[in-house]
Order: sequence, then C-alpha cells, then structure tokens
Amino acid sequence: MRACALPLVLLATAAFFPLSTSTDTLGTSASIAGNNQTLVSAGDVFQLGFFSPDGARTYLGIWYYNITVRTIVWVANRQSPVLSSPAVLRLSGADGRLLVLDGQNGTVWASAAPTRNVTAGATARLLDSGNLVLSSDGSGSDQSVAWQSFDYPTDTLLPGMKLGVDARAGITRNITAWRSASDPSPGDVTFKLITGGLPQFFLLRGKARLYTSGPWNGEILTGVPYLSSNDFTFRVVWSPDETYYTYSIGVDALLSRLVVDEAAGQVQRFVMLNGGWSNFWYYPTDPCDTYAKCGPFGYCDGTGQSPACFCLPGFEPRSPQQWNLRDGSAGCVRRTSLGCGGGANASSDGFWVVDQMKLPEATNATVYAGLTLEQCRQACLSNCSCRAYAAANVSGGVDRGCVIWAVDLLDMRLYTTDVEDVYIRLAQSEIDALNAAANRRAPSKRVVVIAVVATVTGVLLLLLSAGCCCVWRRKRRERHGETDPCPAPPSGGGDDALPFRARKQQALDEDWRSAEKDVDLPLFDLAAVLAATGSFSASNKIGEGGFGPVYMGKLEDGQEVAVKRLSRRSMQGAVEFKNEVKLIAKLQHRNLVRLLGCCIDEDERMLLYEYMHNQSLDTFIFDEGKRRLLGWQKRFDIILGVARGLQYLHEDSRFRIVHRDLKASNVLLDTNMVPKISDFGIARMFGGDQTTAYTLKVIGTYGYMSPEYAMDGVFSMKSDVYSFGVLVLEIITGKRNRGFYEEELDLNLLRYAWMMWKEGRGADLLDPVMDGGGSVNHSEVLRCVQVALLCVEVLPRNRPLMSSAVMMLASENATVAEPNEPGVNVGKNTSDTESSHGFTANSVTITAIDAR
Ligand SMILES: *[C@@H]1O[C@H](CO)[C@@H](O)[C@H](O)[C@H]1NC(C)=O
Ligand SMILES: *[C@@H]1O[C@H](CO)[C@@H](O)[C@H](O)[C@H]1NC(C)=O
Ligand SMILES: *[C@@H]1O[C@H](CO)[C@@H](O)[C@H](O)[C@H]1NC(C)=O
Ligand SMILES: *[C@@H]1O[C@H](CO)[C@@H](O)[C@H](O)[C@H]1NC(C)=O
Ligand SMILES: *[C@@H]1O[C@H](CO)[C@@H](O)[C@H](O)[C@H]1NC(C)=O
Ligand SMILES: *[C@@H]1O[C@H](CO)[C@@H](O)[C@H](O)[C@H]1NC(C)=O
Ligand SMILES: *[C@@H]1O[C@H](CO)[C@@H](O)[C@H](O)[C@H]1NC(C)=O
Ligand SMILES: *[C@@H]1O[C@H](CO)[C@@H](O)[C@H](O)[C@H]1NC(C)=O
Ligand SMILES: *[C@@H]1O[C@H](CO)[C@@H](O)[C@H](O)[C@H]1NC(C)=O
Repeated sequence: MRACALPLVLLATAAFFPLSTSTDTLGTSASIAGNNQTLVSAGDVFQLGFFSPDGARTYLGIWYYNITVRTIVWVANRQSPVLSSPAVLRLSGADGRLLVLDGQNGTVWASAAPTRNVTAGATARLLDSGNLVLSSDGSGSDQSVAWQSFDYPTDTLLPGMKLGVDARAGITRNITAWRSASDPSPGDVTFKLITGGLPQFFLLRGKARLYTSGPWNGEILTGVPYLSSNDFTFRVVWSPDETYYTYSIGVDALLSRLVVDEAAGQVQRFVMLNGGWSNFWYYPTDPCDTYAKCGPFGYCDGTGQSPACFCLPGFEPRSPQQWNLRDGSAGCVRRTSLGCGGGANASSDGFWVVDQMKLPEATNATVYAGLTLEQCRQACLSNCSCRAYAAANVSGGVDRGCVIWAVDLLDMRLYTTDVEDVYIRLAQSEIDALNAAANRRAPSKRVVVIAVVATVTGVLLLLLSAGCCCVWRRKRRERHGETDPCPAPPSGGGDDALPFRARKQQALDEDWRSAEKDVDLPLFDLAAVLAATGSFSASNKIGEGGFGPVYMGKLEDGQEVAVKRLSRRSMQGAVEFKNEVKLIAKLQHRNLVRLLGCCIDEDERMLLYEYMHNQSLDTFIFDEGKRRLLGWQKRFDIILGVARGLQYLHEDSRFRIVHRDLKASNVLLDTNMVPKISDFGIARMFGGDQTTAYTLKVIGTYGYMSPEYAMDGVFSMKSDVYSFGVLVLEIITGKRNRGFYEEELDLNLLRYAWMMWKEGRGADLLDPVMDGGGSVNHSEVLRCVQVALLCVEVLPRNRPLMSSAVMMLASENATVAEPNEPGVNVGKNTSDTESSHGFTANSVTITAIDAR
C-alpha cells in the first residue's frame, strides 16, 4: 500500500510523469511509455511493458522477467496494435480504465469497465502470479479488485488462472492461440469450456472440434485418466455460479504454463528446465485423441501397434468396407434394435457396463442431480431415446446424481485403467449373447511347446520359473477377437531363467488361461514382478505387515506399483486364492487402494497395488515433523474418507467385507492426501469368509482390536467399527492408542479421551501442533470425538454402523448419541508376541494367535 501511495503523493500535481525506476504499480497519474519503461512484479517474476514482435506493431504485454527467452503470457491489445510510437499505458482517473494510447494520443485499447467505482487512489499492480490487478482504492485487497488481466486470458493459462465460465460476472475465459509467432492476434485454435451436460473442455479450430478433455465426472477429466503428478494439482470447479479448470504448482519456483498452439493444433504444457522450456505434455497426443474419431457408438484403442476403431459391445460397423480401410468415422450401428422401438417393452432391454473408457461426449447429455444410479436405470429404461447412463459425480458416490445420454455416444476411447462405469443400453438378447460368449469362450489356441518342467527344487524353482503369465493386455485383445500368445517376458528381468519361464507357463495351461477369461484382473508374470522390484531387493522394501512384506516397484511401462508378497503361512490353494483376488479386485472405491493385479507362482502369492506416494497415515500423524502438515481440515477429510471407504466395504459393496485390521498404517495417502484403505479382503485369504464368525486365528493389531475380538476371537463389522473409533482418536490427538500412557492417571488413549469427554474438555484432545488456530472447527472436533467414542463402546450392538458414522460425521445437524464408557482390551499382556516379530511394537499385525 505504501509503495503505491508514494508516487501518488509525490506526483500529485504533475500530469503524466513517466516512471523512472522499476516498480510493480501504476497509479492514475503515472504512465508507461515506449519500450524502456516497464512494471516488474515485486518478486521479479513478471514484467509488463510494450513489445513489438515484428518491429512495426506494438503491443502491451506481460512476460517472465528473469528468463532469457522472452515468453509473452498475456497481451492487452492483441487485436489493435499501436502503429505510431510512442505507445503509452495510462490508468484513467476518470473512468478507471487502463488505456493504451498511440503517438497521436488516440486510444487504441481500453480495458473493460471496472466492476466497482474507482477512486483517485486507484492503482494497477502487476503481481508475482502474472496477474495485472486494478484496485479501486489502491489497497490491493480482494474486495477492491475492479478488473484483472486473469479474467481476459490470451493464449496462456498460468497457475491460478481459470478456464471456464463465470455466470455471475458474465465472463467466459478461453485461451486462443497467436496467429503466428510474430502476430499475437487471435488465431483459429481455442481451448475452452463448453457447458451443458457434464463440464468438458474442447480444443477447437474455428468451429471444428479437434480434441476434448472428456467430461468431468467429479474426480477426473475422463479423457486424461493418467493426468496426475506431484508437481501439478488441477481442479475443476462445477457449480451453478461458475465452472472452470485451474491448476497450481506444488514445487516452489517451478515455472509452468499451458498454451494453445495454432500450427500444431494442440494444447501444450511447458515447464522451465535448465533455462529452457520443455514440453511436458500435449493434447491431442495420438490419433485416438482426435475428436469422435470412431464415430457414433465406436471407440478408439490406441494401445496397440496402431490406433484402431472398434464398435461398442452389441454394435457393428455401419460401413464395414470403410471400417476395414481404417476409417471409423461412420461409426457403428446396433446389431439388434432396442425393445422400446416397436412394442415399447422396456424390460426387453438391459445394460452392458464398460468401465475403462473415456466417457462419451456429454455436452448434449442430461444431468439429473437428484437421481441415484438405480433410479437412473429406471429412467433410462422408460425413455426410448436413452442410450446410456452413468453416475454424474463419482466423488459424491452413486447416489448423487446421474447423467443420461439420449444422443449418440461419441468420442469414447479405451484405457488400460479404470475410469468410470458407463451403462450402455442394449437389447436384452444382445446382453444374453454377450454373457454367453464371455462364459463360453474357449481357451485360446496355444503355441505348441515342449512342456518339460525341469525338476528344480524349492526356492530355486520359485525364483527362476514363472507360473502365471497373464498379460496385462490380454483382456483387451480378446475383446477384439484376436488371439495373442503371451508376449515375451520383459528382457533384463531374470536372464538365464527365461527359457524356463516360457516352458513352465505352457505346462500350467488351462487353469490359468481360463482364469484370464473371466477375471477382469491381470495376472502378472513373476519375471515382470522381479524386474519391477529389483528381485525384491531390500532397498525397495517399503513395509512389512502380518500378511507379508511390501515392496515398491516400477513396471516396464513406467507404472509404479506396490507389491505385497504374501507370507505362505496358512495360505490357500491357487484356486481359492484366485477367487478371493477376483473378489477384491471388484471392490472399487475412491477410498480404497486399487488392486492392479496379482502374480501366482508355485506357492508364492503376490498382489500388485497402485503405489501411494505419500505412504501411510501413521508416517504423518505420529511423526514430529510431518504431523504439522496435517491441519484440521485435512485430518477431518481423512477421517471422513476412511469412514466412507469402510462403509463401502461393509454395506455398499456386493460382498460384505470385514477388514479385520484397520489401523493407521493401513490407511495410505495419495498425492492429494486422499486416504485409501489398504489390506482389505486379505484376511479372507487366510481363512474364513463369513461376516460374523468365531475364528481360531486372530488377525489384527493390538490397540485397534475390539475387546470381543481380541479376547474371544469374535469378529464382525462392529469390530472394524471399533478399530475405526481408535483410529479417529489417533488422528485427532496425534497419539497412538498403544503408545499412549497417561502415567499419573494410569489411562490409555481411549480412557483418557473418555475422561476428557466426561469433563467437557473433548476439544482439548486435539493435537497441540494445531494450536487451536482459527482454522480449526471445534464443533467438528467435538463431533468426531463423540462419534469415535460411540465406535469404541464395549458392546458391539451399541456401536454405530459405518453408514450412521458417516452421516454423523458429515452432517452438522445429525443427532449423535451420548457415548458410554469405552471398551478397552485390557486383559491380555501382549508384549511377548510383539517382540518376537521384531518390528516396532505399535504397528505389528498379529496373524495367527490361537484364541483361548
Ligand atoms: C531506450 O533505451 C535505448 C537503449 O537502452 C536508448 O538508446 C534509448 O534512448 C532509450 N529511449 C528512451 C526514450 O529513453
Ligand atoms: C534470476 O535468474 C538468475 C540466473 O538464472 C538467478 O540466479 C536469480 O536467482 C533469478 N532471480 C529471481 C528473482 O528469480
Ligand atoms: C499527447 O498528450 C500529451 C499530454 O496530454 C501532450 O503533451 C502531447 O502534446 C500530446 N501529443 C499529441 C500528438 O497530441
Ligand atoms: C458507483 O457510483 C454510482 C454513481 O456515482 C453510484 O450510483 C453507485 O452506487 C456506486 N456504486 C458503488 C458500488 O459504490
Ligand atoms: C473466447 O472468449 C472471448 C472472450 O469472452 C470471446 O470473445 C471469444 O469469442 C471466445 N472464443 C471462442 C472460440 O469461444
Ligand atoms: C416384455 O418382454 C418380456 C421379455 O422379453 C416378456 O416376458 C413380457 O411379456 C413383455 N411384456 C410386454 C407387455 O410385452
Ligand atoms: C448437441 O446439440 C446441439 C443443439 O441441438 C447440436 O447442434 C449439436 O450438433 C449436438 N452435438 C452433438 C455432438 O451431438
Ligand atoms: C460432487 O460430490 C462432491 C462430494 O460429495 C461434492 O462436494 C460436490 O459438490 C459434488 N459436485 C456436484 C457438481 O454436485
Ligand atoms: C428422454 O430423456 C431425454 C434426456 O434425458 C430428455 O430430454 C427427454 O425429454 C426424455 N424423453 C421423455 C419422453 O421423457
């Protein structure tokens, strides 16, 4: 504020003094003229001034201050250059507009009318973000912003800028390429939001659509499912007031920009590396990204040798000849018309789910905010023009609205990763045929090889031979009706052992091959797993649980994975194991770690999961330094996320799963600190698949085990609820239940929490590193403590179901019962067991302890 007031006071009587020294602020009485005067943002990041790309026409622009390649990120008068020098920028005191004047004092450009009345003290300041902000009173406060360059992007989106529509302000923000490198005037290529249906961003050349990001489904832009990185965080906001895309950069001082390129017809992201711009990514990337490449009801598969078009299940090419010539643009037509066409018999139609596809273009689809997925199905069946439906907001769950396509399905493409379930409407006869085909499909023809399995014993065999070769891409190939023998194992994996693998695999034959048919889950070759994890090298080991050690690894295609190598103790046979894995793989939820595949070899069993960069929750909340990174809002989000994940396991999934070992080290955090429960379903592999049972094998971790489970071996959903309650108290306090011991009072964490609650000091339980700052919502903390105490009640029937726990946590108005004294598992001294494992006493999972 002082910086901008100063020139004003000093120069109040002068007319238009040119700025002599570099400053970031322009007042109403100053001006910038010619090529020598500029504004420089306070941190020396951006500079504003005039430039002449072709030497004749002059523009007002903003560029990076401190880099050698001059990179213009914003141009004010791109359509109306200054033709006679000197060009002058002034802030008009009369109407608060920024004006660009030419040598004859003619106005060649004026900024849009300010959105609030400006005073004589108004200023325009260039910020370190690259935003030129007009402050109506010079204070620079958010409330005083009367105009800003970020509202009028040119061809570049900087961090913090928005691309989209602001309905309240009536502003549409898009980026349009420069016509050429020396001509900033708008070219034909634009990247913009098109509203209607689901939000979706399009790259256009004129009116022609080149590429789309895919619809926003509440979690991702479905056309860029792999787009996540530590360094960039992108966000799509979708509300009645405004809808936009924006991004931020996690790494300080990393420069990055998103631009549209006229010649290439691309949207490109650049990052500054070693003094030069490096192209981080661009779209469209391959021919499959081309908008609607495969026409209506077709989809593109770009993962093969050359991209190709295929028809959705139940459809066939409209023009087989054209199709064979690789022109898919005519698309596909139904093999069997829908039942509703003639007889209006809705029950003669059904749905076929596709889940690894970019969602169909959705600007002409209809969103029903109130419908659940089931209601959506009914709505679709009863509306003849409905072609497909899907959840509209996967982050809100399947009960928060859906989207119905009553138009042709366009612009789908296949990915190797799950995107979202889309329910395609087909005649029931087609569905039956598809199901029958899936069941009947014979094992693919095998290459004849000498099925000699060398008799090598024990460990040697285990390490040198590969059992389950199942290939990541097989499922897709088969969908296309090709047969494709197992590709060679990745080279460099295990050298001499390769021939063995090839032969052994044949010997293993039908069981596995038929498994591949019905499992929607890739089976990995042992060689691939060994290569990925450096043969389970100690340096790749990232954890150890009761089920076995966990290693991080990188697959040949670059995907990072966590490999859980299950211990062989009380392990099931291959068939049962396969069934369990299949089942686990079907459990998919935002708050569950995703199972990518498995590997079976002799009696080795391995599970491959997506790798979580932020490791597990205990490495944050129990760490002196890192716990500071978790403010209350984050912790609350984590609590709610874990609760939702557990609710899904218990109540919403098709198979009711009791976790049996929920604890902080089994909650992993992704790059956005979204919690993901891991290790669910594994307990089943060690025996027992009922949801309530007595068991001889207690699987769990002391400190998190409910009394009835620890003492009597009774487990149920309610024992998970107990563990959840303990976890919530740990997240709130930052203290381990089992490490905590209030010496004077002889209390463990649960009893201590209970005492504080009884004394009305529940909010004091909060981790002191959050020092009660303004950002903490104390009523939320209290609610969490109360719910946690309900969850750890001694009587299982008094503990809430996870669905009620979620409701009580999430809703300020929910009534929460008064908790009773917690049930604490006190009867057993467990220190012997723990020390025998040799790991930190607080995180050991006990796997096979005979209950008494
Ligand atoms: C601008 O700078 C150039 C080179 O530094 C100099 O020759 C020229 O006289 C300056 N023009 C003005 C108007 O100061
Ligand atoms: C400007 O660039 C130089 C050399 O690249 C670097 O040493 C300096 O720290 C930079 N200054 C700022 C403010 O970024
Ligand atoms: C432009 O305006 C300035 C200040 O009002 C004045 O000094 C200058 O003579 C004008 N130039 C022309 C060409 O009218
Ligand atoms: C702006 O000024 C006009 C006319 O002077 C006045 O009617 C209006 O209320 C002012 N608006 C604000 C937001 O102060
Ligand atoms: C981009 O936005 C500007 C400003 O709102 C608008 O004038 C222009 O027509 C838009 N371009 C496209 C291709 O929509
Ligand atoms: C609708 O189709 C189903 C199965 O195809 C059949 O059982 C039913 O009778 C039909 N209903 C009507 C009203 O045609
Ligand atoms: C969406 O609807 C508009 C208006 O009816 C139409 O012009 C446009 O072609 C449709 N787009 C698609 C992809 O069907
Ligand atoms: C989607 O669901 C999330 C989580 O419930 C919610 O915060 C968000 O507002 C929803 N978005 C829309 C557009 O309904
Ligand atoms: C069918 O659904 C579409 C899109 O949801 C809607 O526009 C249309 O009005 C519906 N038709 C009937 C008869 O309900």
